[in-house]
Amino acid sequence: MSLIERSFREKIVLVGLTLPPEREEDTEMHLDELALLVDTAGADEAARVVQRRDHPDPATFVGRGKAEELRELSNSVDADTVVFDDELTPAQSRNLEKILGRTAIDRTAVILDIFAQNARTQEGKAQVELAQLRYRLPRLRGRGTQLSQQAGGIGTRGPGETQLEVDRRRLVRRVNRLESDLRRLTEQRRLQRKARRRSRLASVSLVGYTNAGKSTLLNRLTDAEVLVEDRLFATLDPRTRRLELPGGEAVLVSDTVGFVRKLPHQLVEAFRSTLEVVTESSLLVHVVDSASPDPESQMEAVRSVLDEIGAGSVPELLCFNKSDLDEAKALRLVARHPGSVAVSASTGASIDGLLEAMGDRIRAAANVVELVVPYDRGDVLAAVHREGEVLTETHEDGSARLRVRVDQAGAARFKDFLVETA
Ligand code: GTP
Repeated sequence: MSLIERSFREKIVLVGLTLPPEREEDTEMHLDELALLVDTAGADEAARVVQRRDHPDPATFVGRGKAEELRELSNSVDADTVVFDDELTPAQSRNLEKILGRTAIDRTAVILDIFAQNARTQEGKAQVELAQLRYRLPRLRGRGTQLSQQAGGIGTRGPGETQLEVDRRRLVRRVNRLESDLRRLTEQRRLQRKARRRSRLASVSLVGYTNAGKSTLLNRLTDAEVLVEDRLFATLDPRTRRLELPGGEAVLVSDTVGFVRKLPHQLVEAFRSTLEVVTESSLLVHVVDSASPDPESQMEAVRSVLDEIGAGSVPELLCFNKSDLDEAKALRLVARHPGSVAVSASTGASIDGLLEAMGDRIRAAANVVELVVPYDRGDVLAAVHREGEVLTETHEDGSARLRVRVDQAGAARFKDFLVETA
């Protein structure tokens, strides 16, 4: 289910709107990123067009005249497809395809396409397909018109409509099927997470803008052979590895899918269960490509996705990666963000400092609490042993006195038995 033809490299015209308060440089930067996305999807930029407007044209996104111009340009560079930097409504893409005489898609379709190419596990594939179907369903009418023309013959309108209905029903059935598959996979994942929690190890998630170097860093940190590619979104499924910190404690580190500006809402929805690992982490290591043209805006984009998935309040350790490319710049970023570190995942420079910082932050996030639990609350005693690390345990008339290291959520759960914080 691919929108960009892959048997040859398509030529693509990129189109962006500069809407106030954006400046033209901002639009250019977003188009640079779109060009990278298009490249990752297996196509080439043939030309780009920027238009300044107060708001997108409801019928054609760019102005009608601009759309005509776009057709001329597309003809002259022999473009196969025109890609718009913002999400098109179903009506806009229909109208544009009519005017342009070629496929008109948006950034969301390109991102979905790339995710579809890169999904590896059963769950990842199901999530992406679901996102694609949710994107396609409201756009089906356009295709339906084509189908009705193909149907031809007597009473074309009837069969055409029927065909559209058949298509729609087929897609809706598929959506339902995927949703139920995903519910089952989500339940499996929940059980795996429970087993991990029982292992009492703190969990750390690597998050970051796509191409920041998360997989490279995870490889550097552990022996995990996580796929590293100089393409966007090489990682679609979180992988989790065990890692020993300098203090001796072990943690579980997970790589996560790369974030990007304007990450399609359908994808965030579909990946919600995969991203739950992020929400439940003790610490996020936010990996930033310090050599990218605008690291701060990438950080903002990542944080807004974190907020959207409910992970906005998980403690974050900023890690400015690729310090080998421009060390001075990486150090300036560290100076601007107290508590952050600069590393090079490729060369291994300052990885020790990162590991130490991770240990410090995890220790700071974990509380040592003292609890007194009556013996008749075997359920609570069992839960304390399961969820926390019991440091000492003494027994006094009818109850156990325990010193336990738990995370903040754990401390809140056992608050009725809290004596004092050690
Ligand atoms: P997504 O899967 O898209 O989320 O990417 P990622 O964040 O996992 O990035 P990945 O580890 O795949 O690295 C992206 C590119 O950056 C690769 O070409 C890496 O070789 C390169 N890279 C990663 N870390 C460093 C570094 O410290 N220095 C330099 N120079 N390049 C790096």
